[in-house]
Amino acid sequence: MSLEDLNNQILKCERCALCQTRKNAVPGEGSSKAEIMFIGEGPGKNEDEQGRPFVGAAGKLLDKLIALIGLTREDIYIANVVKCRPPGNRDPLPEEVDSCRKWLDKQVEIINPKIIVLLGRHSMDRFLPNQKISLDHGKPKRLKGQVYFPIYHPAAALYRNGLLEDLEKDFKKIPRILKMIEESKIKTEKKVKQVKLEI
Ligand code: URA
Repeated sequence: MSLEDLNNQILKCERCALCQTRKNAVPGEGSSKAEIMFIGEGPGKNEDEQGRPFVGAAGKLLDKLIALIGLTREDIYIANVVKCRPPGNRDPLPEEVDSCRKWLDKQVEIINPKIIVLLGRHSMDRFLPNQKISLDHGKPKRLKGQVYFPIYHPAAALYRNGLLEDLEKDFKKIPRILKMIEESKIKTEKKVKQVKLEI
């Protein structure tokens, strides 16, 4: 199945109650051949209205961070754990995350990125449960052959002093981690294991 076909299915999804309150489902956007995939939590008000991910204030910051590593949105792929806006921007419920599970898994399978950048706690929980974003941000992990890189959510950096500095620092590691993956310096591990980076 192509990414386009998959995303067309997501647009019509009625697997959970969020379909009743959404204006638009937000499948994601970017290159289907992206080496880097960013995964946020879920659409907010602006995203719900436009049907596009990260188009509000957090999205503007994400664009700046992407530019910081010499890339644009066309080079990467941006998706979310849940594809429809939780009312009032509440956290997605576990059953909503579960309903969206097959969509996100299929997107990852089709895009097959070298690295998945997990934006914030909810995105990290979805792939790397039982970790703490305040402790584990900026540390790449390999799990079942896939490299994950948890970092703070751009929205958190907008309202919490000090996080922006960490977020920029972590973001700047992305090209080096990619290079290490390409050079196969990161060894496959059976369990979640912190990759030792010489940076
Ligand atoms: N926050 C998210 O997690 N995702 C979006 O698409 C926008 C804001």
